[in-house]
Amino acid sequence: MLSRGVMTQSLTIPRPDDWHLHLRDGDMLRAVLPETARDFGRAIVMPNISPPVRTGADAAAYRDRILAALPEGMTFEPLMTLYLTEETDPSDVAAAFETGIATAVKLYPAGATTNSAYGVKDFTKIYPVLEKCAEIGMPLCVHGEVVDNDVDVFDREAVFIDRVLDPIRQEIPDLKCVLEHMTTRDAVDYVNSSDDGLLAGTITTHHLIINRNDILAKGLRAHNYCLPVAKREEHRLALRAAAISGHPRIFLGTDSAPHTDANKFQPCGCAGIFTATVTMPLMAQIFEAEGALDKLENFASRFGPAFYGKSVHETTMTLEKQDVPVAFPKSIEAAEGPVTVFDPGYPIFWKVV
Ligand code: NCD
Ligand code: ZN
Repeated sequence: MLSRGVMTQSLTIPRPDDWHLHLRDGDMLRAVLPETARDFGRAIVMPNISPPVRTGADAAAYRDRILAALPEGMTFEPLMTLYLTEETDPSDVAAAFETGIATAVKLYPAGATTNSAYGVKDFTKIYPVLEKCAEIGMPLCVHGEVVDNDVDVFDREAVFIDRVLDPIRQEIPDLKCVLEHMTTRDAVDYVNSSDDGLLAGTITTHHLIINRNDILAKGLRAHNYCLPVAKREEHRLALRAAAISGHPRIFLGTDSAPHTDANKFQPCGCAGIFTATVTMPLMAQIFEAEGALDKLENFASRFGPAFYGKSVHETTMTLEKQDVPVAFPKSIEAAEGPVTVFDPGYPIFWKVV
């Protein structure tokens, strides 16, 4: 519902969900979870903690730790994922899905990103588990980047689609796949060109806002560094167009990924941008700037549940445009140190009320 008064503009939508999120564990989990649970009803929780969430038992234990860390009075449903390795047991995966412990499996090419050392090198080794997933309707979430040293970091997503994702989809045509955190026109085109209804793509907060200049052109901006790395402006524009396009299998997955400032600023700094705190205000601002505020409801609250076979929340969120910039915290304090909140580089005028 859109309303435009004399002074305020507001938008009420069903409570949104985050279809790709890093919550970490322990003290960091306790620090960042409220930032997500305040605004989002559910999230697909990434399994790349250390050690990774590899079995149904791991997922059940991690889910319990997340629920135990949830502050009183907040409601939030973590949707768990299982980290695929070359040793993943198809029957354990199926049992975790059928008992509701796990919602999806996650493919990290070995070495592609934070805590991916256990990931997959030989993709044919996971075909038996993917066949099982196709049979039971369990989605495969992918970190869509190859890791070959001879492939330029800016080309790794497009090459992954050609060399890994498309062959998997050809080989196992009934498998539901999510190409997560899309960063290129190639990824958008690939999702748009699929017509079997089984391929979705998610888009993060930051990839709608930054391009590679924002990482490299005005000094090295560690807080804008994530994987897959932001690409050229033409790709950011393709993502903006995709987000407002109304395509039913393109929806929000923030990839909010907290690292302490100390871990971001070191000779080998961590990849990841922490956006949970500001995502929904930024979404309203972006969709408004695109003249597509009415499309946010589908992107943030309806298309994700439809793809994952979940119901849309009956509770709502209201966002309101303010006359003056809204103050958000610069960082969240975790026991290990501060985690900087994503700064889009411009004032934010929307807030959740
Ligand atoms: C994520 C993290 O920190 O866990 N980092 C990131 O840059 N997005 C991992 C991931 O999703 O690639
Ligand atoms: Zn991620």
